[in-house]
Amino acid sequence: MENEIRKKIMLSGIQPSGDLHLGNYLGAVKNWGARADEFDCYYFMADLHTLTVRQNPAELRRRTLEQLAQYIACGIDPEKNTLFVQSHVHEHAELGWILNCYTMFGELSRMTQFKDKSAKNADNINGGLFTYPALMAADILLYQADYVPVGEDQRQHCELTRDIAVRFNNIYGEVFKIPEAYVPKAGARVMGLANPGSKMSKSDPAGCVFLMEKPEDIARKFKRAVTDSDTENCVRFDMKEKPGVSNLMNIYSAVTGKSFEEIEREFSGCGYGVFKPAVGDAVIETLRPIREEAQRLLADKAYLQQVYTDGAQRASAIARKTLRKVYKKVGLVEKPF
Ligand code: TRP
Repeated sequence: MENEIRKKIMLSGIQPSGDLHLGNYLGAVKNWGARADEFDCYYFMADLHTLTVRQNPAELRRRTLEQLAQYIACGIDPEKNTLFVQSHVHEHAELGWILNCYTMFGELSRMTQFKDKSAKNADNINGGLFTYPALMAADILLYQADYVPVGEDQRQHCELTRDIAVRFNNIYGEVFKIPEAYVPKAGARVMGLANPGSKMSKSDPAGCVFLMEKPEDIARKFKRAVTDSDTENCVRFDMKEKPGVSNLMNIYSAVTGKSFEEIEREFSGCGYGVFKPAVGDAVIETLRPIREEAQRLLADKAYLQQVYTDGAQRASAIARKTLRKVYKKVGLVEKPF
């Protein structure tokens, strides 16, 4: 029924530019599966966005499918959520173009991600890298999303999305829902094991634990985790003085459900030599079923294909309506077929 209470819409994307890691899992994907009853959820592989940085084509294809398998293995049920590949829903690229024309050069120039990525890819500062946020705005606005779960680093892009939506609505009437970023609490942020001063990232592989990684490799990374240069050698939460140990406590807490106090008690009298491998083991046991399920799904290409086909069809049915409205509002002649 039309007047039935509508669930709020939640939407997010992850670029398949690297393999999913523990930070993506604990900070984001882990919580996504549980939201399906409360929200109408859309999750997609942002493959078009990855093209702003040069990719190896075979690797990009592999990672896109792997990411889909991992999402499902992490508990995102494709029957209850809409899972799809961004490039399969052509409305994203189409609305992206239109929104480019409602996004200012000055706004795009102020984006910190653009500045960071331009510094890192000085030989390939392409137009797509610059207009990336307009495509991201299209991703979000096509579905009239209420909430966009993202990391702190994407907050600025979400703010710009709101500005673009408000600007468009001011000219043409209520076309877009104004979305809100949904940023997890600081505790959900996983820092790198080798450098606890910055968040876990694939660009620092020594300190990054990937979901598909072999248990022995995970164990080694935790054993080598940088704890602090203090001589205290004791497990105590202190983000400022002991960022390495605190990060490990954070991870241990997230995978076991134990509080910091319980953890301090459990390891009282133990040094880092006991604590670090214990965190490693707990992570290994958390990731084992996910990795095994993802491997099983990856061996079933027909199933994955069915999931992303259904997902794209469902997504497109919604996206099409918004795009049609936008085309009409801006004055394009209605498509004859
Ligand atoms: N820019 C996001 C990131 O790098 C990925 C992304 C693309 C996204 N489109 C999105 C996230 C739409 C949320 C909503 O993490």
